[in-house]
Amino acid sequence: MAPPPTREDDLYRSAAAVYDLATALWSGGAIWRTRAWCLEDLRPGQRVLIPGPGSCRTAVLAAARGARVLAVERSPAMHRRARRRIERAGADVELALGDWEEATEGRAFDLVVAEHFLNVFDVTRMPWVREALIRRVAPGGRLAIADFRPVVRGPLAPLQRLHHLIPLGGCSLLTRNAMHPIHDHGTDLAGRPDLRAVLERDARSFRAGPAWFRTWIFEKIGGE
Ligand SMILES: C[S@@+](CC[C@H](N)C(=O)[O-])C[C@H]1O[C@@H](n2cnc3c(N)ncnc32)[C@H](O)[C@@H]1O
Repeated sequence: MAPPPTREDDLYRSAAAVYDLATALWSGGAIWRTRAWCLEDLRPGQRVLIPGPGSCRTAVLAAARGARVLAVERSPAMHRRARRRIERAGADVELALGDWEEATEGRAFDLVVAEHFLNVFDVTRMPWVREALIRRVAPGGRLAIADFRPVVRGPLAPLQRLHHLIPLGGCSLLTRNAMHPIHDHGTDLAGRPDLRAVLERDARSFRAGPAWFRTWIFEKIGGE
């Protein structure tokens, strides 16, 4: 397994300290709601993988519901924040430092949670990462994705694009995240023989603002 990044090449070195507050303020809590919805119907004992879990708030919630959670975070700065949160909560979360794909080779999970994770990748790389996540879902298991909502046609579309571009640009400056249009996971994964859409729900900023964040859940066909 490749070694984790050093302090110098930790892309989230400066972003880690402000990330949770910035996402909460920018979305008026909507980003958090899309993360929490990823755990819809989660049952005790289920195996959950969270790649790039950031400070592990969702991981701690999943563990509190009795799931067996593996969270794999590549950034040492984020990993430290996650470790502190897990310890404070006394949560039973397995937290690994490194690359999620290497850390989970050959394993399968009942739920894979890609919470605001696929947004890190550009249009060319994202589908490869998403396919790798789908491969980690056990038959009958689920892939949950939280992300920006695809652009809704109409007069507000330019505003919605700007609403995505501003945090993406900020992140890109701090973490070298890719700049790209909003990913449309629902359209991309529609009609696949191996997946069934089970949830698509939009979150409003500040509960009453525009619904520009979304959670999708897909079930992998093949369970009993
Ligand atoms: C945009 S943040 C999302 C954090 C959190 N999941 C959330 O809901 O806000 C992306 C996170 O993925 C991590 N990450 C990126 N590539 C990774 C990889 N290959 N393996 C593990 N973590 C990775 C980054 O370090 C960062 O913490």
